[in-house]
Amino acid sequence: MTHRPAAAPAMMSPVLYACDGAVAIVSIDNPPVNALSLPVRRGLREALGRAVADPAVKAILIVGTGRIFCGGADIREFDRAAAAPSLTDVLDAIEASRKPVVAAVHGAALGGGLELAMACHGRLCATGTRLALPEVTLGLIPGAGGTQRLPRLIPLRDALPMIVMGKPIDAAQADRLELVDQVVAPDALIDSARDYALGLADREVHPVRSRPVNADGDALAIIDGFAQEHRARILGQEAPAAALDALRNAIRIGFDEAVANERTVSLKLRTGPQSVALRHLHFAEREVFKLPGLDGVAARRMERVGIVGAGTMGTGIALAMLSAGLSVMLVEQQPAVLCRARDAIEARLVRDVAKGSMARAQADTALRQLELSDAYQDLGEADLIIEAAYESMGVKQDIFAMLDQVARTGAILASNTSYLDIDAIAAATRRPQDVMGLHFFSPANIMRLLEVVRGRESAPDIIASGLSLARKIGKVPVVAGNCHGFIGNRMLAVRRIEAEAMLAEGATPQAIDRIIEAFGFPMGPFRMADLAGLDLGWSATTSSGATIRERLNEAGRHGQKAGAGFYDYDIAGKAVPSLAADAIVRRYAQDHGIAQRLIDSEEMHDRLFLPMIDEGIRILAEGVALRPGDIDVVWVNGYGWPRHTGGPMHFARAMGLGNLADGLRSIGVAPSPALQKLVASGASLDTLAQSIG
Ligand code: COA
Repeated sequence: MTHRPAAAPAMMSPVLYACDGAVAIVSIDNPPVNALSLPVRRGLREALGRAVADPAVKAILIVGTGRIFCGGADIREFDRAAAAPSLTDVLDAIEASRKPVVAAVHGAALGGGLELAMACHGRLCATGTRLALPEVTLGLIPGAGGTQRLPRLIPLRDALPMIVMGKPIDAAQADRLELVDQVVAPDALIDSARDYALGLADREVHPVRSRPVNADGDALAIIDGFAQEHRARILGQEAPAAALDALRNAIRIGFDEAVANERTVSLKLRTGPQSVALRHLHFAEREVFKLPGLDGVAARRMERVGIVGAGTMGTGIALAMLSAGLSVMLVEQQPAVLCRARDAIEARLVRDVAKGSMARAQADTALRQLELSDAYQDLGEADLIIEAAYESMGVKQDIFAMLDQVARTGAILASNTSYLDIDAIAAATRRPQDVMGLHFFSPANIMRLLEVVRGRESAPDIIASGLSLARKIGKVPVVAGNCHGFIGNRMLAVRRIEAEAMLAEGATPQAIDRIIEAFGFPMGPFRMADLAGLDLGWSATTSSGATIRERLNEAGRHGQKAGAGFYDYDIAGKAVPSLAADAIVRRYAQDHGIAQRLIDSEEMHDRLFLPMIDEGIRILAEGVALRPGDIDVVWVNGYGWPRHTGGPMHFARAMGLGNLADGLRSIGVAPSPALQKLVASGASLDTLAQSIG
């Protein structure tokens, strides 16, 4: 929805001022998201002053031009010192106005945008609007009264997830919680808000600050209960803890003091390492869509998707496509597997509807758009075909040779391989320019990461199509060059080698897992390996006992599903240290002449992290990843790297490249030539950024 007042006298100000009868219309006009930058804050204060001083004005409307009302504070300003007027100054002026100020909200009111709306004397919003205080996702807390006004406007229990977790709500929820006074159709927003504001002009309105906190019981106990319930999710993060404290202040101290306190804490968090890391990711996750060399290259058509292979990955990919409204032809030669896939897809859609995360009509359409087949010939109409078959070069080459026969000219051919050579796969066709890798992460309908693997001959519009597909299905794409394991798995392999070497040298799986989990990963590598199954890619006939994994498999310890792997599993599925696995590891060490010793946690930490980070630097130097931020996006969205530390490359930057090189040497690993060069020249990681093609 676009609202542009007829007159806009203020010179080049991002805040426009116009009058419509007795209503002053103040419009924030600061594309792309109407962020509350310093000129906007100044403009708002001036416009308010003007409206208050004009005897013809009885009420004031605040609106946003463009797609959304307001995306909040200007994140780009956060690296600079705070400048006056602050948003709190502006909001104080709004609250103090004798003439009612009403916010007309459309699209989204986020962070400072919602704080602005909450300080007004009334709020209307258009259907389809999203309202949130996402500050914690940037390592911050609201800084202009958000933590104090929200629990006065809506029940504390509903304010908690919004403030502490950044959970958004939609217009219907905002209506139910009475966060807004009315929800109207987008076209009717301005007229309704104007009438509403005029209606308030003759009444006495009380500012939100004068209300008590809206709690049905002991407010502090409600906050503590919430903190306890979500302890695991917010562990180690500063912002959620600070948000909980700010909420406690709403009960313990007066409004003005609590708001002042909130601002001080917010400004302090802003310069802290967690917020810097999270802001880095905010920009990196948008940067991935911008590829130097791909400007203006249009994606190919992608409406009909073919998927080859109906195993776990194929099924998850199908779900991701169907949920985004694309039609899917799922091809699988084993009828039982195909049947199971269809049932799993249907069950998932039914669950999504029951949970309220998908409308019934959308689920019905998705199911209607799913076709099943056992014949490659049925892929002739597909715009995009994704192969999700068994991870073997021979199998994949056979499939691509077949696809070359049946796919229409110009169809995109993609492999979901997680580490195989995409050029060798493309070479099985007569159209390598149409081939790329699309590496989904399991479960493919949930995990946000999509590695778009660029083969030597992949055409630019194929890569542009990979990015466009990701946007369509709500994933974060990262373009990777072709090498064994691409970006993520290549680095993971380095961590795995170190972890297994330390096991042989005497560390326990639980000690190593603990280091990774204490860092913030949801699961350590050995628990993860047990969960995935140790027999992935293992075969009894070729097993030679050359690795600890092979020996565990030979002893029937295939992982959690077998009740035994690196760990033993009790009846409840809980991992417990295993004497049997220990004995296998000790025997392995003996056979290989590896002396077992005590490894301290500092050494474990360095060996788990530093070599894999240096592998990231190699990946950058080779151009397999285009930018350091791309690697961070991969690890945070595909491998559980804790967001608030920014990803492995941000971590390297924060620790200092010289320290990284020294740390590697201290564990007996030679730093990569690229790292040595960077350290010698004093250059930053960003100097390794590449362009495509
Ligand atoms: N301050 C400064 N720039 C912002 C911004 C903000 N609050 N929010 C978004 N932007 C920028 C983005 O970085 C992007 O810049 P680019 O085009 O140079 O890459 C541009 O605005 C468009 O954002 P994008 O996310 O690509 O558009 P969208 O339409 O998908 O989403 C929003 C728009 C506002 C919903 C989304 O950007 C968002 O959630 N922003 C963060 C809001 C927030 O956290 N506010 C609280 C700040 S404390």
